[in-house]
Amino acid sequence: MKRITTGIDGLDNLLEGGIPERSLILLSGTSGTGKTVFSLQFLYNVAKYEPGIFVSFEEDISKIKEMAEVFGWDIERYENENKLRFLRYDPFRIEDILEVIENNIREIGAKRVVIDSISAIGLYMRDPPEIRRMILQISNTLRKNNCTAVLTCDILAGKESLSRFGVEEFVVDGLVLLHNSLDKEEYKRSINIWKMPSTNHSRKIHPYSITKEGFIVHSKEVVRK
Ligand SMILES: Nc1ncnc2c1ncn2[C@@H]1O[C@H](COP(=O)(O)OP(=O)(O)OP(=O)(O)O)[C@@H](O)[C@H]1O
Ligand SMILES: [Mg+2]
Repeated sequence: MKRITTGIDGLDNLLEGGIPERSLILLSGTSGTGKTVFSLQFLYNVAKYEPGIFVSFEEDISKIKEMAEVFGWDIERYENENKLRFLRYDPFRIEDILEVIENNIREIGAKRVVIDSISAIGLYMRDPPEIRRMILQISNTLRKNNCTAVLTCDILAGKESLSRFGVEEFVVDGLVLLHNSLDKEEYKRSINIWKMPSTNHSRKIHPYSITKEGFIVHSKEVVRK
């Protein structure tokens, strides 16, 4: 099994050096925890040698590019070199999404894919089996094309859940949780790895920050709850 970098400073230290190649990782957190920053960085930091595709189900691509610009990430260069591609997709016309993802992966030889967010699918489908089937189909498409992927998942504040619909975590290989918790008069950011295949990962909760350098995990520090 080959391990590859997450592209997130400090996170690989908690994962014996990185995530298994071709694994699907669910990144769950409430609004504002930095899921989009994390996923963009996961693609951007290795785009030079691992082409990637960012599928946005919610946010406009222009917003995502603005975010990248503030971090000083030259997204356009990689787009011009066909190493990064951004797709905005409405989850209510989901029928042909599998084909679109697959075609784009093949066109640029993508090794990494981000789906931001997978829970958006559930907002347009009523019944849980249907949501599960759709998420499963997307996962299968990513697996079939040998991609390593981050699927983000919005969880509701105040709920102790791993995912939005209670099905997402069963479809993926790895699960990473982002927390925003009140500590005295301040909200603090922390991260923990819930599961990661074939990896003796940290089971502790570690602080992280989002700065002008991007998403940074403080792997040597631990948060006590
Ligand atoms: N350049 C920056 N410098 C410092 N912090 C930043 C910067 N850009 C974003 N942030 C922080 O990251 C947060 C937003 O991150 P992001 O959009 O990735 O969250 P998210 O989990 O995707 O949220 P949502 O669920 O609403 O999509 C901001 O609220 C801010 O706290
Ligand atoms: Mg987001």
